[in-house]
Amino acid sequence: MEERRYLTFALGKGRLAKKTLELFEQIGITCEEMKDQDTRRLIFVNEELKLRFFLAKGPDVPTYVEYGAADIGIVGKDTVLEERRNIYEVLDLGFGRCRMCICGPESAGELLRHHAQIRVATKYPHIAKDYFYNRKHQTVEIIKLNGSIELAPIVGLSEVICDIVETGSTLRENGLIVLEEVCPLSARMVVNQVSMKMENERITKLISDLKTVIKEQS
Ligand code: PRP
Repeated sequence: MEERRYLTFALGKGRLAKKTLELFEQIGITCEEMKDQDTRRLIFVNEELKLRFFLAKGPDVPTYVEYGAADIGIVGKDTVLEERRNIYEVLDLGFGRCRMCICGPESAGELLRHHAQIRVATKYPHIAKDYFYNRKHQTVEIIKLNGSIELAPIVGLSEVICDIVETGSTLRENGLIVLEEVCPLSARMVVNQVSMKMENERITKLISDLKTVIKEQS
């Protein structure tokens, strides 16, 4: 029989990776090596199933998948939208649910309603630009930040932010509210376009097994 090649998975580091491995275990895909908290290894192999896994920074996952360094990636919808890579988004994994929102102090609601020329701080400039320019037809100035976005309206860098809201506690503790919702978010499976053709049988089976488990849980 012809030797099967490895299917390679890129997982976004952190909460999503942990949840992904839990989900994969339910369809019989395990990677014991990856559970070792102290390991410095970057890539983990399941020889029996011919699978390889590596952890990457979330925003890099679509890049690995587009170039085929990974066949499959697991990443937040926020990253899929922001990175705009040529990849197939094939499955909503149903966890990591949160919302992309426009937030700020209550007073900023008035500025949004009047389409005022405001500043929007965000880690997601493409998403913010698409929302304000293409959906709302509102001209704004977008300021790219790399984290702790909620600080921006508090210290006067911007009037509003475009950011992820999960429990809403970061907003509450900083006197900010959700002013508008941009879109719902959750973890997605993405696939390299060539891999989808070359490894169609294995990838289709994986998607259908995952769909069954996800359906059972919802
Ligand atoms: C994210 C997001 C918000 C917060 C929302 O930040 O940017 O700040 O979580 O969660 P909540 O609604 O449950 O409070 P993250 O912790 O990823 O760090 P960052 O600020 O460095 O982006």
